[in-house]
Amino acid sequence: MLHDFLHLKAPGHWINDPNGFIYYKGKYHLFYQHFPYLPRWGTMHWGHAVSDDLVHWEHRGIALYPSKAYDRNGVFSGTAVEVDGALRLYYTAVRYDEENPDNVHRALDNRFAASQALVISPDGETFDNLDAKRQVLPVMAGGAAGDPQNTRDPKVWRAADGSFRMVLGSTWKGIGQLLFYRSPDGLTWTAAGRFGDEALGTTLECPDLFCLEGRWVLLGSPMGITADGLAYPDQSTWMPVTFDETTCTLALEGRPTFVDWGLDLYAPQTTLDAEGRRVLIGWIRMPGPVTDAPDGRAPWRGMMSLPRLVCWRDGQLCFPVHPNVTACFTEPAQGLAPLADHRPVRLQGKLRDGQGWNIGGLRIRREGDRLLTDRSEVFGGLTGYRLTAEAPAGTAAACALDVFVEENLVEIFLDGGRAVVSLVVRGLGDTLAGDFDAVTTVRDN
Ligand code: FRU
Repeated sequence: MLHDFLHLKAPGHWINDPNGFIYYKGKYHLFYQHFPYLPRWGTMHWGHAVSDDLVHWEHRGIALYPSKAYDRNGVFSGTAVEVDGALRLYYTAVRYDEENPDNVHRALDNRFAASQALVISPDGETFDNLDAKRQVLPVMAGGAAGDPQNTRDPKVWRAADGSFRMVLGSTWKGIGQLLFYRSPDGLTWTAAGRFGDEALGTTLECPDLFCLEGRWVLLGSPMGITADGLAYPDQSTWMPVTFDETTCTLALEGRPTFVDWGLDLYAPQTTLDAEGRRVLIGWIRMPGPVTDAPDGRAPWRGMMSLPRLVCWRDGQLCFPVHPNVTACFTEPAQGLAPLADHRPVRLQGKLRDGQGWNIGGLRIRREGDRLLTDRSEVFGGLTGYRLTAEAPAGTAAACALDVFVEENLVEIFLDGGRAVVSLVVRGLGDTLAGDFDAVTTVRDN
């Protein structure tokens, strides 16, 4: 059985979005978009992993795969809900208008039809893709009723009165939309309204809507919002909203803010952890495969971020690293060459104005109340990607840094999660220079 520690990585080949993230019957279940043949996107499946603590992951193979005419070309993103002890997995079913004759894993001219479907698992272990699968919403009719192609990623939850709500990401006249549905049982659905705004990009992907300490948050992944020619044009944001669960009426209460300022993270999902805290995991987009995995897995591309809590502080949503992660970093590594072996390393310290750190070639520096990062020395000379990123003004007021370093990814938590900057790196060196308060690593796992 394949295992991952801290970050869930592709078990080989390709992964993208987290799906069906849930704490169910005493275990965390994390599903994910998966193409099991090559380290690039193709016919989507749901891979599956489980964990007792959000940091030790056991891969469980493929849970959902194309099996019906309506999902024969892909099982796209969606969410999980526990109902009467069973695990329901809602997802978007994809059927290409025509397959590309040279690669049946892609649609010809990128034309396809999307509907919404459900698999009910009795136990979170078995997934009957033939008899327990059903379509719950047909392909949309078009226009204001919903785009027949770009309507996807059902987020399903139980409302306060026990009935069900669904929100889908969509597009209309080139503007991102939310489509709401209501259901008494989660099986039969009726349309309950629509909301569109340019803040939702050209198409909204992977909407997540939740009430946190009495205030609603819309988390989503609007397409085309950083379309400056650099990867990636689609970015994940959060917005404060008002939302009436009975009428499904939504209004924006503020401008969108990036979930992660490194701009590699995408399509995050949240759920409640064992203690009832909201926790977020996002897909970390990688520009190419890792080909020399020490555990012998096939070339792999795509991983999940560290789990992060989601909480309000001074009217801002903050994303501090989950305490189950920090609890692993028990071993002092100061004075050693902590980046020379390949264990994960945690760096803590404060930067004064003008000061910086060098983390194996990744440069970070404080300028006033901003944090600037530069990965040009550790990105394999690739072009077309952002090499610098910055946490915006105000987020580095104290500039207390908590940084988690592993071979392919550096995650910088600023001032207790007021901003997070996650950066994919390639070929990190051994140099570690800076004024650190603590350098720690983990016990062998
Ligand atoms: C986001 C996304 C989703 C879709 C899935 C397909 O990255 O495009 O909207 O369901 O990936 O893999």
